[in-house]
Amino acid sequence: MPKTAALVLAAGKGTRMHSDNPKVLQTLLGEYMLTYVLAALRPHFGEDIWIVAGHQARMLESAFPRGRFVFQAEQLGTGHALRQALPALAEAGCRHILVVNGDTPLLDAQVTQTFLEKAGEADLAFAVLELADPASYGRVMRESGKVRAVVEAKDCDPLTLKLNHEVNAGMYLLSLHLAETLSPRINRANKSGEYYITDLVALAVAGGYEARAVECGREESLLGVNSPPELSRMEEILRERVAERLLQSGVLLHAPDQVRVSPFARIEPGAELTGPCEILGRSEVKSGARVASHCVVRDSVIDEGAELRHFSHLEGVRVGKGALVGPFARLRPGASLEANSRVGNFVELKNVRLGEGAKANHLTYLGDADVGAGANIGAGTITCNYDGQHKYRTSIGEKAFVGSNTALVAPVVVGANTLVGAGSVITGDVPEGEMAIARSRQKNLSRKKISSEY
Ligand code: UD1
Ligand code: CA
Repeated sequence: MPKTAALVLAAGKGTRMHSDNPKVLQTLLGEYMLTYVLAALRPHFGEDIWIVAGHQARMLESAFPRGRFVFQAEQLGTGHALRQALPALAEAGCRHILVVNGDTPLLDAQVTQTFLEKAGEADLAFAVLELADPASYGRVMRESGKVRAVVEAKDCDPLTLKLNHEVNAGMYLLSLHLAETLSPRINRANKSGEYYITDLVALAVAGGYEARAVECGREESLLGVNSPPELSRMEEILRERVAERLLQSGVLLHAPDQVRVSPFARIEPGAELTGPCEILGRSEVKSGARVASHCVVRDSVIDEGAELRHFSHLEGVRVGKGALVGPFARLRPGASLEANSRVGNFVELKNVRLGEGAKANHLTYLGDADVGAGANIGAGTITCNYDGQHKYRTSIGEKAFVGSNTALVAPVVVGANTLVGAGSVITGDVPEGEMAIARSRQKNLSRKKISSEY
């Protein structure tokens, strides 16, 4: 089979989104629109996927550092975008190109596969849909049942717009030969003054090629996102699909219509989620773990039997077996909670290992620290990890007991089995087994004496 590559058109600004960002960097369930399109293409094409970037191309490159890009400096239309990519595709030895619009986040591998099978080795095939409300989609023009052309909605007469509901879905299979021969003939003689890739259909028919219209099932998979209402509609379709899949697989969902889980997250059967909540990125929630309402979890692993109580926010975190988090905890990247540890309300952790069974239950900030197993961090403890220029680590040994309202000025080591008196400002190491108090001694003075003095 000659090599087929995928080409994603993603250079447009997406004017109708009213955003400065490229449209394909809009997010659905916390993931870029383009991430979905690439995920649908990857099973078939592996690394043979090129992306046409243009508007804010640098942003696109930094969002997809492993992407293979071709550049369209001026966005003169989809036909122009295709032309920019042909030299790179020819050089890579591609014989066929699957072209898809980058604004189709519901695309899936199955639909792509079906399209490719039905398209066969045609020189030009394109996916079509029958839509109840075809809005701004390009219309498929036929004569005696045979495809003649695709005409953009803007360029259609009102009667065609009203009566013809067969639309171009924005997915094409082109032989490189056809693309190289015919794309230079696309002109800008249309209402938008753009080069339309869709003009290839009429050009192919005129040139004696077969232009094959391919129906490929699930309508919603090929819908494009052009406006905020369309974006939120697609996001809701995706959200519902994931929630349904989770329920069917044995995940317990309360208020399932308010549970927002990324399709790239893994939730094991036997986990329990209560909406509203968000589980985003490459998170994993293991069997028996519980996530209460108003939690937001991104790129984190929640082990078996761990519990996230209400309003906890986690990013880049590992929560060990049976650990308890929240309510109102904020766990930032690099926090790692070992089995049965506890983090309570208004506690923030960043880049911290909390040992097995250790506790920080109230009003605490621990940053760049290592906390030994069974240690107890009192309310109001702060690791002062930043001197305005550099960050330093704090080490707290096993079973240490840090009294309330303590400032630990890093770098500092609080040994195992130590006790730190409440209200201390600890600037020097505390040797193992010792007790440290670092605060001024209390004085009790007569009130009368004080008032006479002032
Ligand atoms: C396009 C099709 C239309 C089809 C619809 C399906 C054309 C001319 N029309 O219309 O027939 O029914 O998709 O969703 O192709 N892009 C570039 N460079 C450009 C312009 C656009 O890369 O110069 C990219 C955009 O980023 C987008 C894709 O091409 O991802 C499609 O462009 P868009 O403007 O959304 O086309 P539609 O008007 O939706
Ligand atoms: Ca579109």
